[in-house]
Amino acid sequence: MRSRITWLGHGAVAVETAGRTILIDPFLTGNPAASTTADRVRADAIIVSHGHGDHIGDTVDIARRTGAVVIAVHEIAVWAESQGAPSSHGMNAGGAHRFEFGTVKLTPAVHSSSLPDGSYAGIACGVLLTLPDGVLFHACDTALFSDMQLIGRAGIDLAIVPIGDNYTMGPDDAIEAVKLLKPKRVMPAHHSTWPLIAQDADAWGRRVAAETTAQPVILKPGESCGLMA
Ligand code: NI
Ligand code: MN
Repeated sequence: MRSRITWLGHGAVAVETAGRTILIDPFLTGNPAASTTADRVRADAIIVSHGHGDHIGDTVDIARRTGAVVIAVHEIAVWAESQGAPSSHGMNAGGAHRFEFGTVKLTPAVHSSSLPDGSYAGIACGVLLTLPDGVLFHACDTALFSDMQLIGRAGIDLAIVPIGDNYTMGPDDAIEAVKLLKPKRVMPAHHSTWPLIAQDADAWGRRVAAETTAQPVILKPGESCGLMA
């Protein structure tokens, strides 16, 4: 069984593992970089990193259509059910839980978080996903912070880091993040959705290869890679 990771554009990722599909931050409607649509994606679980519209995205609509459980910080989980999501699983930063598809641990992120209606969304998180065949870390929206080296002790096979700058780490800090996380492979995200966060991902990948011990994985929206090389 080999898990596959598909970049859906912006921070949105689909993880296919053992016949299940887990979506992270499925912002598709209104996402100019989206490679698929909310009425088409499969989902058994949806993990939401924080409350911003470009991450909550289509979570509630997809959950209603597919019956997928919404996994997020407690405040977002409660909100998702109040909006019509059929089920949710609330967690918080530092906590892990074993689901049928693998173990989800929410990690702290340095970022703000509020829901589309302005209500409190808890703290922003990253997602450490331990699957039967390897470990995926999606840093989601965050600044660089030194505790990334602690997250890296999980032994990350594939990390996804933002490089878009302005709202999150830019290319330089993302290189530092890779040095702290020490993943085997790393994929950039949260870039080039809009001109404000346009970046040259191929150039960043060359820096990863030259300046870190990780191998770069540069995808376009809609492209996939294995969790393991
Ligand atoms: Ni955000
Ligand atoms: Mn964002």
